[in-house]
Amino acid sequence: MSHHPVIHLEDICKTFSLAGQPVEVLKGISLQIDPGEFIALLGTSGSGKSTLMHILGLLDRPTTGRYNLAGQDVSQLPDERLSELRNSMVGFIFQSFYLIPYVSARENVMLPGLYSSTPGRVLKARAEELLTLVGLADRMDFKPGQLSGGQQQRVAIARALVNDPQVLLADEPTGQLDSKTSGEILDLLSDIHRQGRTVILVTHDLATANYAGRKIFLDDGRIKNS
Ligand SMILES: Nc1ncnc2c1ncn2[C@@H]1O[C@H](COP(=O)(O)OP(=O)(O)OP(=O)(O)O)[C@@H](O)[C@H]1O
Ligand SMILES: [Mg+2]
Repeated sequence: MSHHPVIHLEDICKTFSLAGQPVEVLKGISLQIDPGEFIALLGTSGSGKSTLMHILGLLDRPTTGRYNLAGQDVSQLPDERLSELRNSMVGFIFQSFYLIPYVSARENVMLPGLYSSTPGRVLKARAEELLTLVGLADRMDFKPGQLSGGQQQRVAIARALVNDPQVLLADEPTGQLDSKTSGEILDLLSDIHRQGRTVILVTHDLATANYAGRKIFLDDGRIKNS
C-alpha cells in the first residue's frame, strides 16, 4: 500500500493561445490528492475546472508545472505512453455522454477495453457485469438513442469503469439530468468511491458537492482557500 498521493500537482499553469494572444487559464495550481479520496471541484463558470480535469485525465498537457500520477512524473511522457496510462489509470465521465450512437450499450462499454490485451470474451463479460451493476441489465442491446439521459449516463459510467481505473473523473455528470436521476447517479459515484477508487467530481451545486469528502474551490485559475 502506497502512502504517496495518487495525484500530485506542482504549480500547474495552462495558457491557451488565441489569435496570437495568450489566455492564461490555470495560474499555478498545486494540489495533492490521496488514494481513495472523493473530491468535489467547485468554481464559477470559466474558472478553469474542465481545463484542470483535462490535465488530470491526461487529455491535455499543462503549459508549465509538474504532474505526478500514481508515482509517475507524467510531465515529460511521450504521447503514446500518456494514452496508455490514461487508458489504464483514468475513467472519464462528461456532462454530455459522448457515447457512440450506432453501437449498443454493451459495445460502448467494451470500447475502451479494445485497446488493452483483455480477450474479447472477458471484456464482454465485464461490460455485462458493469451494465448490470448500473441497473441496465435489460438494456444492453439498446443503442444510445433508444435510452433515456440517465440511462445513457449510466452507460458512460460503466464505460469509464471497464478498464478498472484507479481514478474516476466526472465533469458535471448530472448537468443534463433531473434531480431524481442525478441522485441515482451520485449514489452510483459514491458506491464507486467506496470500492476504493479516487473520485473527482466537478459540480456547480453545493448539495451535490456534499457527497464528497473534500471540496476544492477554483477561482479564476487558482485554488481558493475555503
Ligand atoms: N482551447 C481553448 N482556447 C482558449 N481558451 C480556452 C480554451 N479552453 C478553455 N479556454 C478558456 O479557459 C477558461 C476556463 O474554461 P473551462 O472550460 O476550464 O471552465 P469551467 O470552469 O469548466 O467552466 P464551466 O463551469 O462553464 O464548465 C474559459 O475562460 C475559456 O474561455
Ligand atoms: Mg467545464
